[in-house]
Amino acid sequence: MLTCPLGQSNLNITSIGIGTWAIGGMEGNWNWGPQDDQDSIAAIHKAVDLGINWIDTAPAYGKGHSEKVVGRAIQGLSKKPYIFTKNSLVWGKDKVIRNSLKAATIRKECEDSLKRLGVEALDLWQIHWPNPDPDIEEAWTEMATLQKEGKVRYIGVSNFSPAQMKRAMAIAPITSLQPPYSAIRRDIETDILPYCVKEKIGVLVYSPLQAGLLSGKMTIQRIQELPETDWRRKDANFQEPKLSKNLALQETFAKIAGNHGHQAGVAALAWVLRRAGVTGAILGVRNAKQVEELAPALDFRLGKNELEEIAKRF
Ligand SMILES: NC(=O)c1ccc[n+]([C@@H]2O[C@H](COP(=O)([O-])OP(=O)(O)OC[C@H]3O[C@@H](n4cnc5c(N)ncnc54)[C@H](OP(=O)(O)O)[C@@H]3O)[C@@H](O)[C@H]2O)c1
Repeated sequence: MLTCPLGQSNLNITSIGIGTWAIGGMEGNWNWGPQDDQDSIAAIHKAVDLGINWIDTAPAYGKGHSEKVVGRAIQGLSKKPYIFTKNSLVWGKDKVIRNSLKAATIRKECEDSLKRLGVEALDLWQIHWPNPDPDIEEAWTEMATLQKEGKVRYIGVSNFSPAQMKRAMAIAPITSLQPPYSAIRRDIETDILPYCVKEKIGVLVYSPLQAGLLSGKMTIQRIQELPETDWRRKDANFQEPKLSKNLALQETFAKIAGNHGHQAGVAALAWVLRRAGVTGAILGVRNAKQVEELAPALDFRLGKNELEEIAKRF
């Protein structure tokens, strides 16, 4: 299995990692409808069996539930994947999620994540959202201290602009950035990706299938049947006027991937991975079958003619 170093770290990661937002289930503020924990655990085990060597999670996914499920899944595994988690979205007794980058909450979050995941150190710990902006330096300083204490191996950021990354780098190196990127959402190509290449910051792109829209299995009927609690029902990409264009793009990926015996999502993942500077793509999954269907993306790459055919769709 081909692996690549994440930024300037010694974490050698596969081009696909497993995303566990939907696995958080119904407790979060943004949910994907009901999720069976046994399906989630089977998905993680399947991914590890197929050679995928990292998992991305966050406390905010199901208010701790996703991290707990990941912790249960990796217990007793002889070959443990790297565990990447996040901080800065916290909740109190009222269960409402709020942003905090204060040193004391950052330190507490580290202890809570270690406990839920059942690990001695977090392989990568990322600031989930840069809010409130003036507190970025406070959080990053505390994260660098926790790294020195050995609780965290590497520190990274998510949803940061180049200007925000520059401020953090004045305090301690950034191993990686986690931004959104898919054939439907391409804004990082302008400034963010070039900046990360220049600064040797690894890039783990999220929502590469645009929340399932480019998986190959999304249809108008499926969208109409999504549970009321699934956030995608209200998302503009799942509604007209954007939906028809998005489904047509899915069709293009389906045709190209189909020529190689794969599902559309394999080509959609290869499309984000074509770009120099993208170290890995985080693939959100809900069961082992989904992992199995898209795992060929670990090695599949698009040819020049195929990339040109996709470019005609933009
Ligand atoms: N840092 C951040 O702010 C941030 C934000 C968003 C996401 N993330 C991370 O990135 C990960 C990936 O992003 P994402 O989950 O939003 O979107 P995604 O990877 O683009 O899409 C994931 C969804 O696609 C569907 N899918 C997956 N495999 C499939 C298959 N073989 N066949 C058909 N459908 C399939 C599943 O939903 P259904 O089966 O329900 O359709 C799955 O939940 C997250 O899990 C999370 O770890 C981070």
